[in-house]
Amino acid sequence: MKFKANDVREDFLNFFKKNGHMEIENLSLIPQNDPTLLIINSGMAPLKDYFTGESIPPSKRMCNIQKCVRTIDINSVGDPHHLTFFEMLGNWSIGDYSKKEAIEFGWRLIKDVFQIDTSKIIVTVFGGDKSLPGISADMESFEIWLNYLPKDRIILLDADSNFWGPTSDTGPCGPCTEIIFDRGIKNGCGKVDCGPECECGRFLEIWNVGVFMQYFMHEDGSLTKLPMNCVDAGAGLERFAMILQGVESVYETDLFIPLIEVLTNKIDINKNKREIRIIADHVRASVFMLADGIIPGKTKREYVLRRIMRRALLYLTILEVDCQLFWDVSQVVIREYSCRYPELKDGEDFIKNVIFSEITSFNKVLSKGLRELDRIIKSSTSAVISGDDAFKLQDTLGFPIDLICEIAGNKGMTVDKERFNFLLEEQRQRSRK
Ligand code: GLY
Repeated sequence: MKFKANDVREDFLNFFKKNGHMEIENLSLIPQNDPTLLIINSGMAPLKDYFTGESIPPSKRMCNIQKCVRTIDINSVGDPHHLTFFEMLGNWSIGDYSKKEAIEFGWRLIKDVFQIDTSKIIVTVFGGDKSLPGISADMESFEIWLNYLPKDRIILLDADSNFWGPTSDTGPCGPCTEIIFDRGIKNGCGKVDCGPECECGRFLEIWNVGVFMQYFMHEDGSLTKLPMNCVDAGAGLERFAMILQGVESVYETDLFIPLIEVLTNKIDINKNKREIRIIADHVRASVFMLADGIIPGKTKREYVLRRIMRRALLYLTILEVDCQLFWDVSQVVIREYSCRYPELKDGEDFIKNVIFSEITSFNKVLSKGLRELDRIIKSSTSAVISGDDAFKLQDTLGFPIDLICEIAGNKGMTVDKERFNFLLEEQRQRSRK
């Protein structure tokens, strides 16, 4: 294998260190002194105060590899490239270099160091957005990219795609430019209008090569200028590994192969590829969160972890596999990643205890929920489980909706998901308030 994941990490860091960047520490997933954020979700999240000028960075040029968790795409996990936990390769300029250098660094790294076939590269640039009337299209980045790519491979997009941040409701943010790898027609939907915005998987974002952090977003959504221009760049290690190893998904990279192997000893991958990927991703995320001292619970970041853990346990249950397999995969995560993340090995006993205690409480929820669901099904006069019943089962007993649907389906019934989603949204709005 030409580029093992570790080579990608090392080559990335060496490239930026050679170009004057100081390697900074990879920090805990628990944000420090940041009540606006539950879990570190990007390389820049622990560095926000440098962008606002509230703290002085140890160097104006920095780089690192930061553990991150994002659950916004949790329902897409299982496709070739979405994950809840990932390692972010990051480089930053705090009031030092700007667009020209950020783009040049990006280009040199992918072309000269990683030797990616640049005929497959297209880039996106902020093209303006009605929702941000004061911010014009980033034609400066467009012009810079023309030094490397023909015009038709530089795509101007709106704020949804090319305005990044803040990491929570408030904070630094700005227009960004992204490097996209074209995986070819065979990996896409084949539609004539398929492009980098299409979700089909053909166009894979591999590097947000520059968020040009120029603004601070306030609670009311208004923007004010930051005291200096900064660059925040981030790339998911797993996606880079996927492209550089020439495989079809992040789960076929050396970052996941040993985890997937443990699962395929017990589960048929031909029938359950998506489920295996979900379990592998969720176990890996859980182990990293546990190693940083998060324990599963009912609120805030504890709930994020519980949700991820129980989703993996749920799929093991649906596939009729012993939940012990969660721990078997965890041990492989600890073995494979401890070299770079010693907190995993240090926390092994704690991680094991919490996992088994969560398995016990999940099983209790399951048997209570199964009894209640059985009662609902028996007393039902139609083939539909009402959204209210399903919501109550999930909300009060913690019995997951996916499992309700699965069991209902096995009995030839459906669940009124529309009403369920309505109630869920209503509850979300309430808790947001
Ligand atoms: N901080 C840039 C990104 O996460 O894409």
